[in-house]
Amino acid sequence: MHNDIKEILISKEAIEAKCKEIGRQLTKEYDGKFPLAIGVLKGAMPFMADLLRYIETNLEMDFMDVTSYGDAMQSSGEVKIVKDLNTKVEGRDLLIIEDIIDSGLTLKYLVDLFKYRKANSVKIVTLLDKPSGRSAAIKADLIGFEVPNEFVVGYGLDYQEKYRNLPYIGVLKPKIYGGEEI
Ligand code: PRP
Ligand code: MN
Ligand code: MG
Repeated sequence: MHNDIKEILISKEAIEAKCKEIGRQLTKEYDGKFPLAIGVLKGAMPFMADLLRYIETNLEMDFMDVTSYGDAMQSSGEVKIVKDLNTKVEGRDLLIIEDIIDSGLTLKYLVDLFKYRKANSVKIVTLLDKPSGRSAAIKADLIGFEVPNEFVVGYGLDYQEKYRNLPYIGVLKPKIYGGEEI
């Protein structure tokens, strides 16, 4: 375990099993369709890569890079597009892939944008859901795990751009972000 991690919340094995389970479900839901899977960079990258290997329908991939946190611990509330899609979404069945939903502001912004761009359907799959952080009315269609109100990192999730490469989801030691030790 990385020295800055207090505890592992979700193991590599549990993530793998969940990707299989969600992949099977999405295979059924998109049977006979040609969805566009949209990864929300950067956090969704590992989950997207692992999940898509278990979806057996044809699909297309694209990426959107949006950010609202920067290096801060809390969302600024303002979502910024760093990189837009290359694909037209009009009439398409979209599957937005996220690593975590916290305030919900990132996804609310994306869902509204894709509806405005006339997508046929928009589904959300997220590895983690932190319902305690929610301020926008947004719900994922598929959720891997619910997490408590702690600062989690790993498997795509960062703190100041670090820890995205950890193969598990862990809780950061408070001293790393200048918090109180409990
Ligand atoms: C994080 C995370 C989600 C979003 C969730 O991304 O990856 O995309 O915040 O928070 P919200 O529900 O409060 O909007 P971030 O903006 O840190 O960019 P990153 O993925 O590049 O780390
Ligand atoms: Mn993100
Ligand atoms: Mg981040």
